[in-house]
Amino acid sequence: LELKHSHRLNDEAKEYIEYIVTGAKRMQNLIRGLLEYSRISSVSKDRKSVNLKEPLYNALYNLNLSVSEAKAEIIVKDLPDVNVEPDQIAHVFQNLIGNALKFRKENERCKIEIGTDHDAGDGNRIVFVKDNGIGIEPDDLDKIFVIFKRLSASTNKPGDGIGLAICKRIIEKQGGRIWAESNGKGSGTVFKFSLPDDYKDEVI
Ligand SMILES: Nc1ncnc2c1ncn2[C@@H]1O[C@H](COP(=O)(O)OP(=O)(O)O)[C@@H](O)[C@H]1O
Ligand SMILES: [Mg+2]
Repeated sequence: LELKHSHRLNDEAKEYIEYIVTGAKRMQNLIRGLLEYSRISSVSKDRKSVNLKEPLYNALYNLNLSVSEAKAEIIVKDLPDVNVEPDQIAHVFQNLIGNALKFRKENERCKIEIGTDHDAGDGNRIVFVKDNGIGIEPDDLDKIFVIFKRLSASTNKPGDGIGLAICKRIIEKQGGRIWAESNGKGSGTVFKFSLPDDYKDEVI
C-alpha cells in the first residue's frame, strides 16, 4: 500500500501509514522472538563436540553489519571444546554481542572481549562476553533476564526484552548458568555463562 500509492497520498496519510508499518514490523519481531523463546524447550537437537569458536564465528558473521556500523573492536581469546548444541550457543553469542553493540557508549570506541575464565570449581567452564558499554546498576543485574524486562537507561534503543530470557533458557537447558556483572552506570558489563566441559575422553 505504502509503495504503490505513496505519490497519491498527502503527508498526513503517509505519516499514519508509517506508524502502521512500524507497528506491524515491531509486532512481527515480537512474535518471532516469542516463537524462538517457546521453541527452545520443545526442540532438542543433538549435542556435538565443537570448539566454541565455531558458534562464535557464526554469530559474528550474522552480526557483521552491526559490528562494522559500530566500528567495534572484537577480541577473541582462546576458547575450549564443549559438548553443546552449536546453533543454540551461536544464538546466545549473537544476543550477547548484539546487546554489547547496541548498549555501547557514544563517546568511546566499542570494545568487546570474548574468552573463558578459570573453572568454577565444579568442573564447569565459564565463558564471558565483556563490553565497555553503558553498564548496569547492581540492583538490576538479575532483573534483565526476565522476559520483556528492559532498563530505563536503554529504552531509547530498539528491542523487546526477549533476548536475555532466550539466552537464559538455552544455557540452562545445556546444563549451565548465566549471569551479568557490572559496577553500574558507565562501567561496562560482563556476561558470563557456564557450560559443561567436553567429557569426550570418558567415552569408550
Ligand atoms: N551489554 C549490555 N549493557 C548494558 N545493558 C544491557 C546489556 N545487555 C542487556 N542490557 C539490558 O538488559 C535489557 C534486556 O536485554 P534483552 O533481553 O537482550 O532485550 P533487548 O535487547 O531487546 O532490550 C536491555 O534492554 C538492557 O536494559
Ligand atoms: Mg537484546
